[in-house]
Amino acid sequence: MSITVSTLMERAYEQSRPITAQLELTYKCNLLCSFCYNAPKQRSELVGDQWLTALDRLQAAGTFTITLTGGEPFVHRDFWRIAEGVRERGLVLKVYTNGVLLADRAKVERYAELAPFDTEISLHGARAATHDRLTGIHGSFDRLMEALGNLSSVGVKVTLKTPITRLNQRELREVDEVGERFGYKVTYDTNITPTDDGDLSPLSLAADKEFLIAFLADQVRRGRRGLSPRPVEKMKQNCGTGRTTVTIDPYGDVFPCIAWRRKVCNILEVEDFAAVWQGRAGRNETLEFVRKVADEVPRSTLAPHEEGGFASFCPAVAEKETGDAYAFYGAARVSGLVKLEAFRRVRGEPGTVTEGERLATDGKPA
Ligand SMILES: C[S@@+](CC[C@H](N)C(=O)[O-])C[C@H]1O[C@@H](n2cnc3c(N)ncnc32)[C@H](O)[C@@H]1O
Ligand code: SF4
Repeated sequence: MSITVSTLMERAYEQSRPITAQLELTYKCNLLCSFCYNAPKQRSELVGDQWLTALDRLQAAGTFTITLTGGEPFVHRDFWRIAEGVRERGLVLKVYTNGVLLADRAKVERYAELAPFDTEISLHGARAATHDRLTGIHGSFDRLMEALGNLSSVGVKVTLKTPITRLNQRELREVDEVGERFGYKVTYDTNITPTDDGDLSPLSLAADKEFLIAFLADQVRRGRRGLSPRPVEKMKQNCGTGRTTVTIDPYGDVFPCIAWRRKVCNILEVEDFAAVWQGRAGRNETLEFVRKVADEVPRSTLAPHEEGGFASFCPAVAEKETGDAYAFYGAARVSGLVKLEAFRRVRGEPGTVTEGERLATDGKPA
């Protein structure tokens, strides 16, 4: 009997199985992106053996996709042991990286042997000057281009990821061309988030709203993405936080997802992690809270607003920006209004909101 991905996701949601785990191996990094959301602490980071224990505990709880991220995961001294540990357990391996350390052919050949399911690499512009300005390291673009050449020559699947900022918004067509040159798809992220400890300064890099409307409409017209409202009235949940997703930071602390830094437990302190996640080890306030918010947000926060179905709403960001996980915060409203306007533009409908006016008044990021 075959089973579709959406049935699998639904079941995982109902049974609270953390099927996708993001492991932040280290907060050390070889780049210095000014907007980076990481918030390192003065604590000892987990070593290889400890990460292998974490893998066993996650697998027992039903995890089957492991994303290694950071910081820069390739900087962790036990990266290879951990990545091999993922594959030896038959788990799906994904890696998020800035790619710089893959400008090394031998390393890329070793990496290809792990048969990673996907490798998401950040590309911050089509020109060295733009990319390097955002990463803070001169030469990072050239190393990345070398890495992409190595990866494509050994047939490793890569998805390029570009967070859209004020600094790179004018060269996105060329960013597409970089992807085409190597045969890799580029995905764009229109949301710049606060840091994990609540610093809002990365938001100052967010792209212009007028630009984003035109960009999204153009992407839809060129068949590069779809754009339709989420049926927020009928949705069971806003996202899988605390149910189907789990994140572990370099100190072993477990969080309900990459964005929400409310601690669930420490993975090394709970032998039966599955029991914690499924509530058999007693009540867990964090899990109870985030699950309740994820269930309620579509109707309580999004449905009352015309742009709600289009908004990229993250309750963790809402809490960081306003202190209230249910608040329809500035950047979420902007994301909704931008997509609503792009949607109307593609359909040739006149906007009931003149984007200039409404975005500038009530949709401003906090
Ligand atoms: C924290 S990095 C870790 C992996 C790797 N070092 C890299 O840069 O790809 C994960 C992703 O988050 C993105 N990112 C970092 N800070 C961000 C922020 N404040 N808002 C949106 N995306 C951000 C990065 O560009 C990268 O694509
Ligand atoms: S490369 Fe990744 S982890 Fe490093 S500073 Fe940039 S966004 Fe942060």
